[in-house]
Parts: sequence; C-alpha cells; structure tokens
Amino acid sequence: MPFESLTAVRSDSILGLATAFLQDKAAGKIDLTVGVYRDDRGQTPVMSAVAEAERAIIAAQTTKSYLPPIGLPGYRSRIRRLVLGDLDDELADRTGVLQTTGGCGALRIGAELFARAQPGKPVYLSDPTWGNHHGLMSGAGLRIRTYPYFDLSVHALRLDETLDCLKNAPEGSLVVLQASCHNPTGADPDTDAWTAILDMVERRGHLPFFDLAYQGLGQGLQEDSLPLRMAARRLRNFLVAVSCSKNFGLYRERCGALLMVAEDGGQRGVLESQVKHIARGMYSMAASHGALIVDRVLSDSILRNGWRRELAGMSRRLAGLRTGLAEAMGERRPDLDFSWIDRQQGLFLLLGIEPAAVDRLREENHIYMIRDGRINVAGLNRSNLATFADALAPLL
Ligand code: LMR
Repeated sequence: MPFESLTAVRSDSILGLATAFLQDKAAGKIDLTVGVYRDDRGQTPVMSAVAEAERAIIAAQTTKSYLPPIGLPGYRSRIRRLVLGDLDDELADRTGVLQTTGGCGALRIGAELFARAQPGKPVYLSDPTWGNHHGLMSGAGLRIRTYPYFDLSVHALRLDETLDCLKNAPEGSLVVLQASCHNPTGADPDTDAWTAILDMVERRGHLPFFDLAYQGLGQGLQEDSLPLRMAARRLRNFLVAVSCSKNFGLYRERCGALLMVAEDGGQRGVLESQVKHIARGMYSMAASHGALIVDRVLSDSILRNGWRRELAGMSRRLAGLRTGLAEAMGERRPDLDFSWIDRQQGLFLLLGIEPAAVDRLREENHIYMIRDGRINVAGLNRSNLATFADALAPLL
C-alpha cells in the first residue's frame, strides 16, 4: 500500500470553482471565476491571427522532432522584443530567454533558479496576490513572506507600507512584482510608485521577479510592460515570467517564457544552462505548438497588426465593462463611491464582500466568483450586467 499515507487535496480555489460552475444547471448562471477573457456572448474566442497562424503551421510542418531544449529561436527573440522593446547590443547580450510551459512554468523555473543561487533567501509576494503564486514559490523550496500591497477599505495601494517592508526585508530577497493588471486587485503602481519601488529594490539589492501575464489588456502593449522597461534602464539583474495565455488567448497551449537579465553575456550563458538543466530534470522541455503560433504571428506584419487590433479591442471591452459596472452600481447605491472600478485595469477586481456573501450569491443567484470576492470582469456582458448589479447592491 505505497500511497496509504496520502489524503485528498482540496481542488485549487480558482479552477475548482470554474468546474462547479460547469456543473450548475441554472439557466441564468454567471461565471466570474477563472481569469480567461470572454466576449459579449461569453465565449473565449480563438483569436483570428492565432487561427490563421495555426493553419499555416499545420500545412507546412514536416516533422515533430525535438526543438532546442531552450526553445524556438524566433519565439525567444520575438518575445524578448515584445516584452522589453528594442534592446541595445549590450542589454540584448545580457538577456537570456527560456521558452516555458506557460507563465506558471516560468515562475516555477525562476523560483528554482533563485533557490539554487541564494539558498535560504525568502521570496516576497504582494498581499493579496494570485493564489497560485504561493504554490509555485513554495514548490521550489522558497520561504514565502508578503509585502502589504492593497487597502481594500479605500481601494488603493499601500505604497508606503510596501516600501517599508521591502526596506526591512533581508538584503537580496526575491520580490515578485506583477507588472500590470494586478491579480486579484486590478490596481497597479503608477510611474512614480514604480520609481519608488525600483529605488528600494536597488538599494536593498533585491532581485525583482516581474510577472507579466496581461500585457496588452491594460493600457497597451508598451504601457503594460512599463516597469520592466524602467528596470532594464537601471538594474543589472532581474527576472520576468511571461505568459501568452491571455494576450494571445493560448491558455491551454501553455505557452510562456522566462527572461533573465544577467550581469553580462557570460553570466547570461550560465543562467541559460542552469534553467535548461532545471527544466530537463522536471519535464525535459516545453511543448512547441503555442510558441510556433506566437512566433508566426509576431513575424508576419499582417498577422501581427491583426493580433494587435484584436487585443486592443479586448482591452477596450474590459475598460467599457468597468465603466458600465461602476455606473450600474452607482445607480443602485448612490451612497457609495464606485469610481475606483474605473481607475483600475485588466480582468480583475476585488468587490470587498465577505466569503458568506460570495456563498450567498452562488447559492441564491448562481453567480460564481472566488471566495475572496474577486471577479473576472470579462464574465460580465450586456445581458447579465444588470442582474449582477441587482444581486450585488444589497450586499455592499
Ligand atoms: C486566474 O487567476 O483566474 C488565472 O490566472 C487562471 C489561473 O490559472 O488561476
């Protein structure tokens, strides 16, 4: 009986709820759980440029033989450019890229790399943060600490407390920073706040690990990677976990990348060899299909422009939904201020309701969301927004 000591593990709070939603038979049920983009009909479409690239890849493929373990060369350089912009030769030479199994794979491999380099040093996560950050970091053996990030009572960042915490953190800690469209709050630092955070990170010799999962779904492709571009101008070392799940709609293809900005080209080579070795010991190498698609979309100007337009349309829809929700809530509860919904960006916001109220919405109204009161705004649409606002208004 080799497995007798094991007991069942509770399903992940986000993915478990999405499954519960599928099992609910109610006609007007509303899914605000897992962070996938949806259109006004509630569908998560295959983006047109992605579908076209996919057809061309299938038509042209002649083999399924292995790719280089570090990843597809075109994908690696194009992702680096998408994320960090045009780099001068020196910075390009210092920046390593590993193709990974989604953004999660990049986070886990980056955490393993840090654990190898700095055994015993902790990782700092924002409080609150995306639930899976904890598992990904502790899975690599890192001790987890948190920095205060968000004050739910006033829907604003706790910047002074963030800075204070980073100041007192052990020198050289790993600090996970969500680059834009913060999950679960939707609240991001502005340029001044990023400057202050990067100042503190630099002063204390911390290693920033940017999580870039929503590039293009906030203000735009360039704007959403602002803190990375700021870091590239001033820091010698940082890591970036890139996800192509949301901005290319490639969720199930598990397509991502780990970027490593190193001291010099020699160290970049060392880091690339280390992360290849880590991946080899876990699952050998990342799957290719998603990376082939992204490479094709980014290298063909017609596909690239089509993708950018579709992505911009998605972010406009999210912004419009935020405005619509703020207005609908304002009409129902004129005693409260909902302007914060509009000030934030991306897929997520925290409603600030208790878990008991979340349970009531699920049981009585068939409205599903994470128990901390996080909703995926993209689950709202013209036909369910008023129903949602009606159900929520008495609970605030
Ligand atoms: C979410 O937070 O809902 C998404 O990032 C999906 C996931 O993997 O949890």
